[in-house]
Amino acid sequence: MSFALMGRCALLAFLLFICSAADDSFFLPPRNGTKGRDIALILIQGAKSPVLGYKPVLEAIQKASEDRIWAGAPQHLLDIAEIQFAQKVDDMLKRMTEAGMKADRFVLMGHSLGAVGCQLYLTGSGHGKFDALILTGSTILRRYRNSSLPPTLTLDGDLDGLLRVSRQAEAYFHQVERAGAQETLDRPVVILEGLNHWSFSSGPLPSNVASHDLRAEVSTVEGHQLIGEVVSDYLAATLGGSVSGKSRMVQAVQRTGELLQPLLEALKMEGYRHLQPPCNSDYPTNPTCQYPKYPDKSLLPPAGPPRPLPPPDCTCGSQWVEGAAAMVAGLSNDVTLTLKDAFHDVSDVRPFHLPHIFHPTPGTACTKPEGCTINATTVTMPVYDLKDALDVGLWPITASELRSKFKSRQAMQEAAGMQDVNFTETDGSNPRICQSINRAAYEWALQKASPKVRARFQQHGQLLSFAEDLKSGFGLMGPTWIHDALSFTVSEDKKMVTVQSHYFPTPNKKLGDVPFIETVGYHYCKLLSPARAMEWIYVDSLKEFYGTKNATVTEILV
Ligand SMILES: *[C@@H]1O[C@H](CO)[C@@H](O)[C@H](O)[C@H]1NC(C)=O
Ligand SMILES: *[C@@H]1O[C@H](CO)[C@@H](O)[C@H](O)[C@H]1NC(C)=O
Ligand SMILES: *[C@@H]1O[C@H](CO)[C@@H](O)[C@H](O)[C@H]1NC(C)=O
Ligand SMILES: *[C@@H]1O[C@H](CO)[C@@H](O)[C@H](O)[C@H]1NC(C)=O
Ligand SMILES: *[C@@H]1O[C@H](CO)[C@@H](O)[C@H](O)[C@H]1NC(C)=O
Repeated sequence: MSFALMGRCALLAFLLFICSAADDSFFLPPRNGTKGRDIALILIQGAKSPVLGYKPVLEAIQKASEDRIWAGAPQHLLDIAEIQFAQKVDDMLKRMTEAGMKADRFVLMGHSLGAVGCQLYLTGSGHGKFDALILTGSTILRRYRNSSLPPTLTLDGDLDGLLRVSRQAEAYFHQVERAGAQETLDRPVVILEGLNHWSFSSGPLPSNVASHDLRAEVSTVEGHQLIGEVVSDYLAATLGGSVSGKSRMVQAVQRTGELLQPLLEALKMEGYRHLQPPCNSDYPTNPTCQYPKYPDKSLLPPAGPPRPLPPPDCTCGSQWVEGAAAMVAGLSNDVTLTLKDAFHDVSDVRPFHLPHIFHPTPGTACTKPEGCTINATTVTMPVYDLKDALDVGLWPITASELRSKFKSRQAMQEAAGMQDVNFTETDGSNPRICQSINRAAYEWALQKASPKVRARFQQHGQLLSFAEDLKSGFGLMGPTWIHDALSFTVSEDKKMVTVQSHYFPTPNKKLGDVPFIETVGYHYCKLLSPARAMEWIYVDSLKEFYGTKNATVTEILV
């Protein structure tokens, strides 16, 4: 027999096997003692997550609710909710109707990949078929943020290792904070502390979940009870107009806002691109930026305006980098600094974007630091992981490095009127400037993190340490600094990760009074974003020693 034929036979045997495999689809009629109209709730399974594992959480929802909930969980081919989606939903509704369901309200609930399928379905062929949507271990995808979905609850655990809590902070920003929807419950986000990705199901973890999830700190039974209460409140508030359900939901959303506060603050500090898009200082659309251009020159024809132009509430630059510029300067409090950052690709030369001291004007300096005012700019390029474009929440969402161009310590100190500033000492052979800024980002995040998260991190997380900066030189294509990445090196015992930056310093000349093509008075750094540090503390640092991949059965099934 040829290999091709053997392959075909194997495939046929495999297909026959799945087609004949038992269908575990099931539904639960309303529990005894409930009154009123029927509600149909269809749960869509996560990838490779057996439907029967969802039975306890559906029972917990029924138990918490006063409503007559018919809960159905269709099983999909290969346990992946995709091509048969609409048919599976219709079949389950039909089965429940045949069993006596008289529903006039329909709720779709999805877990993990199943919740992605729900969004695809409700923005497509299922449009208008459901009155509410509940996403668990998932979130409204960026591409559906502006789409019309039915009222949607986003419900997750803060220890979800597959859909990270930092991504839920982004969701909260758009769906609640920015929308001013704290009370209106338009698209509420509720994060339950101590629950993980698998808290929404039960039984053995599928391998993909086991390799990425964090350990739950709430037992499966207790978790299901908490989930049941939130879902029940949401259904009561959304479908039945229950006042008490609504007020409990408003409280849950408010608690979520408090829980996510450190992450949101860190994302804003970075200037995270998925809160507001970055501005373009060449085409200022946000009147609050007031970023002066330098050199505003181009050797080639300029690139022209971006289309579309950034919105008026775009993010001017990174607040963190503005603070970092003061650390680079290393001046006393006698000097008043006005520092402005702007986002640009650091390789862009159409036009060039360079940091600059606008005041004192180049060629001049203050007579002494006391009472001196320095106005200077910086340029930053946040670099994001390509995988984040998939928006699955599995990988870090924050910048992996900030490529920041600063005026050097020498240039700033000379502008402040200091005499005999030694370039070798301030910048040229000073491997501690970027290092100290990066350590400050880590300390900032540690101090802002909630006490509970900080304690968990200090006990179980991979801690960060900071090595001295490496000096980047010149390669064939110019300075190698652009591609010398901020590095993260894991220690042999895996308990520590060492962060190391690259710097690129150039000596100052004539107090900066030279044509822009002469590179004088710069200090470039690869910075750790405070948001990346925060995300590390909340999620990624825990995967090694506090993930489900490395846990005994008793540690997982608490
Ligand atoms: C619910 O009520 C039905 C019909 O009255 C009864 O047959 C069933 O045993 C009851 N179930 C429970 C769990 O009490
Ligand atoms: C979504 O809507 C907002 C507000 O109307 C708008 O600013 C934004 O550009 C839209 N985003 C997309 C991806 O269409
Ligand atoms: C420095 O910048 C601030 C803020 O943009 C501005 O108000 C001030 O006039 C500037 N000072 C000088 C001397 O340019
Ligand atoms: C600057 O500092 C370096 C290192 O301390 C020293 O070797 C050098 O002589 C100094 N240069 C001047 C001009 O003082
Ligand atoms: C799992 O974690 C424990 C500490 O909780 C550690 O001793 C062990 O080396 C880890 N195992 C692996 C495979 O990482």
